[in-house]
Amino acid sequence: MRLLLLLTALLALQLVGGQDDYCFGKDAEREQTRHFTSKTAYQIVKGTNMDKQYQVPGCEPKKMWIFHRHGTRLPTPNTIRAAPRLEDLRDQIVKNYRVLRTKPETNALCSTDLIAIQMWKWNTSITVDIEEHLTTQGYEDLRGTAKVYQHYYPTVLPTRYNDSYYLFRHTDTQRTTESFKGFTEGLFGDNTVATAADIPEQDLLLRPYDYCNDFKDKNYKGEGSEYQKYRTSAIWNRTVDDITKRLGFTFLAEEDIELMYDMCRYEQAWQVDRTSVWCGAFLPEQVTVLEYAEDLKYYYGSGYGFEENTKFNCRAVQDMLTRLSSPVSPHVIAYFAHSTGLQTLLTALGINKDDVALRADNYNSMTSRRWKTSLLGPFAGNFVAVKYECTEALEKEKVVFFLNQNAVELDWCNVGLCDWSQVLEHYKTISEANCDEYYCRSGAMAGRASLLFTALIAAIVYLMH
Ligand SMILES: *[C@@H]1O[C@H](CO)[C@@H](O)[C@H](O)[C@H]1NC(C)=O
Ligand SMILES: *[C@@H]1O[C@H](CO)[C@@H](O)[C@H](O)[C@H]1NC(C)=O
Ligand SMILES: *[C@@H]1O[C@H](CO)[C@@H](O)[C@H](O)[C@H]1NC(C)=O
Repeated sequence: MRLLLLLTALLALQLVGGQDDYCFGKDAEREQTRHFTSKTAYQIVKGTNMDKQYQVPGCEPKKMWIFHRHGTRLPTPNTIRAAPRLEDLRDQIVKNYRVLRTKPETNALCSTDLIAIQMWKWNTSITVDIEEHLTTQGYEDLRGTAKVYQHYYPTVLPTRYNDSYYLFRHTDTQRTTESFKGFTEGLFGDNTVATAADIPEQDLLLRPYDYCNDFKDKNYKGEGSEYQKYRTSAIWNRTVDDITKRLGFTFLAEEDIELMYDMCRYEQAWQVDRTSVWCGAFLPEQVTVLEYAEDLKYYYGSGYGFEENTKFNCRAVQDMLTRLSSPVSPHVIAYFAHSTGLQTLLTALGINKDDVALRADNYNSMTSRRWKTSLLGPFAGNFVAVKYECTEALEKEKVVFFLNQNAVELDWCNVGLCDWSQVLEHYKTISEANCDEYYCRSGAMAGRASLLFTALIAAIVYLMH
């Protein structure tokens, strides 16, 4: 009898042991979905404290300046073309587990996650002709942020539109145009009432990086960059190896891992309340290793990694300062743009700057870093400056900066509330700069380059005659 009990207990233990594997599909927290860098879903990381942050005693909100990244989009053409490969990987993983029996002893896929992978299918309606288009969720993201801000600031964001009070502009892409429509539908209930300002030939305000070769050519992800060094580090290699083994492989190309990771992140953002099948392939601690690689890339690409990056959004900063300083309309200025624009704006403003630089060799000591692009620039990431008028206070003008519905903490402000005079003082260099020369080391490339080109053509024409 005793022996039988013992045997039963042992058997039960073993069964439980088999179920010890981490299960993404059964995890209520799904912490790793908060670490998907620029492919993080807005709904997962947005702030939840605006209730306590929007009211400023003795002050009236008057004006608002918004820089909004587009919402969740479809993949880039390369990812769309590569996606059918995931069906091979799906079949190979199932075969590894069920036929070849190469399931690892520890950290294996739990059966729920394995079955989910087995049932996965690529949505063949997603074709390259709709690459990077805004998704339904992406539209909802923007409709949602508009409603949230309107809820807190009904007097600044009235439901009745006119084009002197409101100024909207988006870049020349489907995803920002649709984002603008989602946002205005959120505000006015109908996305056809509002119009957006014309997009200039050279969009230096919303896409300055398109007109500066120095910005594009700097080495932020190539040979010798911190990003590349990290991707050949021991911790990276170990993680790649762990993911490979976890899926039952002895070798797995890094491109395949990236593809699975991308699909995980996209699908999670497309359907926020569901679990993305491919996310099951990655353990939370593996995701944070992958996250750091992209944080490094963005840190040197658009962040504090290179001093010049702090200058790039010269025009957007000036635009914000000028418009919020002026008492006249437009009272609401909203721009719909991209991740690089948002990140360089934050960098220009000194937001979330770390004391220690992110490097290939300091992953372990930087776990509490401020530069986390998952929180800074998720899909539909947005920076909102709310200008207040305070009749009672000594300082009549104040501002609160919000990033993804969280009041931004700057050490020269008072728990998120900044004196406008301090803001002007703090960003004096950039506000007094001539952006044509300031934002790009070699000057406004586009203008200069075309001048040089014209001169060259003229010389050739001259020589030929
Ligand atoms: C497949 O993708 C298309 C295009 O984005 C979308 O409209 C459709 O809802 C998707 N189907 C499923 C089942 O997710
Ligand atoms: C535009 O809307 C604002 C805010 O509702 C209002 O104060 C202003 O009078 C309107 N202007 C015009 C020209 O309708
Ligand atoms: C990691 O792997 C790469 C290529 O597979 C190799 O070049 C590199 O030396 C490895 N790094 C370490 C620290 O072992």
